[in-house]
Amino acid sequence: MIPPCDMLVFGGTGDLALHKLLPALYHLHRDGRLPKDMRILALARKSLSRAAYQALAERHCRAQVARADFDADTWQRFAERLDYLAMDAGQSADYGRLARHLGQSCQRGRIYYMATAPDLFEDIAASLGTAGLVTEDSRIVLEKPIGHSLASAQAINAAIGAAFAEPQIFRIDHYLGKETVQNLMALRFANALFEPVWRAGHIDHVQISVCETLGVENRGAYYDRAGAMRDMVQNHLLQLLCLVAMEAPVRFDAEAVRNEKVKILEALKPIQGLDVRDKTVRGQYGAGRIGGHDVPAYYFEKNVDNDSDTETFVALQAEIDNWRWAGVPFYLRTGKRLAKKTSEIVIQFKPVPHHLFKGDEANRLLIRLQPEERISLQLMAKTPGKGMHLEPVELDLNLAQAFQQRRWDAYERLLLDVIEGDSTLFMRRDEVEAAWQWIDPILQGWQQHYQSPRSYPAGSSGPEQAHSLLELGGREWLG
Ligand code: BG6
Repeated sequence: MIPPCDMLVFGGTGDLALHKLLPALYHLHRDGRLPKDMRILALARKSLSRAAYQALAERHCRAQVARADFDADTWQRFAERLDYLAMDAGQSADYGRLARHLGQSCQRGRIYYMATAPDLFEDIAASLGTAGLVTEDSRIVLEKPIGHSLASAQAINAAIGAAFAEPQIFRIDHYLGKETVQNLMALRFANALFEPVWRAGHIDHVQISVCETLGVENRGAYYDRAGAMRDMVQNHLLQLLCLVAMEAPVRFDAEAVRNEKVKILEALKPIQGLDVRDKTVRGQYGAGRIGGHDVPAYYFEKNVDNDSDTETFVALQAEIDNWRWAGVPFYLRTGKRLAKKTSEIVIQFKPVPHHLFKGDEANRLLIRLQPEERISLQLMAKTPGKGMHLEPVELDLNLAQAFQQRRWDAYERLLLDVIEGDSTLFMRRDEVEAAWQWIDPILQGWQQHYQSPRSYPAGSSGPEQAHSLLELGGREWLG
C-alpha cells in the first residue's frame, strides 16, 4: 500500500506537464495505480482558475491519450484530483502562499516535480526549504539536462542537496523508462547466451542512434542554448551506452545498477583538444522536406538566433577504456529533422575467424526502441537449392506482438517509481557529473577549434561528415 502523497508540478502549464505528465498521471489513475486521495497541484505564473486549468488539462489529455483509453467519467474523477495555483516559482515570497494553499496537506508526503527550466531548480529548492515545505517524506524530481556544464550541474546538485537528501532526489531521464531500454537489461542479464560474446574479442563496434524528424518545435529558446549535445548526448545517449556496456550489477536495485553505470562513464576515454575534429561531427539542419512538407532551416525557427551556430546533430566516436571494451568503438548519433524517426542500438559482431563460405557476413544484433519495439539478430543461412549460397536472415522478436498489452509511456513507469520511491531508473548525482565531465572537454574543443556545425538538409540522414566518421574505420551506419 503506497502512503498518501500529493504531487506539485512546477511549470504546470508548460509542454512537458501538459503533453507528458498529465496524460501519464491520467493513465495511472485510470488503472487504479495512484494513491487513493493523491492531489495534483499545478503551479505556474499564468493567472488561471482551477476550473480553467482542468479544462486546459482535459484538452491536452484528450489529444494525447488514445481514444479508447479516454472516457468522460474517468476524466471527471481524475479532474477532481487536479488543482492550480498561480505563483512565481522564482519569488521566495510566493512560497508562504503555497504553504497556506496546501494547508492540512502540509503533513502529507509531497513530490515536487520540476518541469521548468534548470535555471530555476536552485531557487525553487531553496525556497521550499526556507518555507518549511521539505520533510523527510518529500521527494523532488528534476528533468534533464541538469545544468549546461559540469560546474553548473555541480552547483544545482549542491543546492538541491542542501534541501533534500540524495535518496529523495529523482533525476529523470525518460529513456530509462522505455520498455525496450529495460529489456536491454533483461536481454543481457537474464539470458546466458550473450554474456560470453559481449566483449571486445567478439564485438567489432556498437552504434547508438536516436534520429528524429521533429525540429525544435516551440522550444527554440531552450534548445538554442542547449543544442543536441546537452539535450540528448549528455543524458539519453550516454545512458543507453552505459546499459550496453556496464557489468552485471550484483542486484537489481538503485545503488547496484547505478554503481555499474558510473564505472562506465568514468572509463570513457576523453575527447579533447584537436581530437574533436577526428572523433566528433556537429551538424545543423537547413531547409528541406519532411513528410512531403517544406520545413525551414533551423536558424529561421521561432526563438532561434538568425546566426545561431547551435548544433542540431551530433555524431561521435566514443571508446571505453576498460578490460571488456578496450578498442571497441561506440558510435553515437542523434539529430533533429532527419529522414526517419528511429532510436536503435546495433551490436556488430566480428566476422567468423575462417571463411568456409563465400559471402558470409558477421552477425548483428539490433535493439530498436522506436518506432516499434524490436530485437532482431541477423544470422547467415543457406538459401534453398543446390550449392552453398548464403544470405543474411533475421530472428525477429517484435515485443508489441509478443506481449499484446497496452505499452506504458516512459513517464507512466517513471512517475509510478517516484511515487513508490524506487530510484533504480533515475540518475544519481555522481552519474550526472561523470557524464558532464566527459562532455565538457568536447564542448570546449568545439569552441577552441571553432568547430562550426556542418549544414544538412532537413529530411536527409545528416551531414556527409557523419558518414566519413565511420568510413575511416571501414564501417557504415547500419539499421
Ligand atoms: C527530450 C529532448 O529529452 O527527448 C527532445 O529534450 C527530444 O529534444 C526528446 O525530442 C526525444 O524523446 P523521444 O522519447 O521522442 O525519443
